[in-house]
Amino acid sequence: MSKIEIKLSEIPEGKNMTFKWRGKPLFVRHRTEKEIAAEDAVSLAELRDPQEDKDRVINPKWVIVIGVCTHLGCVPISNAGDYGGYYCPCHGSHYDASGRIRKGPAPLNLEVPYYEFPDDDTVVVG
Ligand code: FES
Repeated sequence: MSKIEIKLSEIPEGKNMTFKWRGKPLFVRHRTEKEIAAEDAVSLAELRDPQEDKDRVINPKWVIVIGVCTHLGCVPISNAGDYGGYYCPCHGSHYDASGRIRKGPAPLNLEVPYYEFPDDDTVVVG
């Protein structure tokens, strides 16, 4: 299976970049301190698909998720929606800055693929 290597220094803080990996969009988001703190503070009781932020990331600065809405597979828009993470315009699903579903018809959080950081400036997904 194919892997993708991404240089993290090319993604400014506060930005999400989209890559193509195994035929799907891959989102790599460089979170701000504010986003990290906000997602860490979310209570599991608020979540439809309960998952702690720390269980979705290796390094809290970087959120790496498959950019496919878990409702019917549209590609969400980054830095949009009521929770500041991702918004799927097809039927109105709102995801937070951890990629967790917060509102709308999607049943599950955005999928986190297998990845690792071979060094401080590189992530390898797959
Ligand atoms: Fe995303 Fe329906 S496909 S909300």
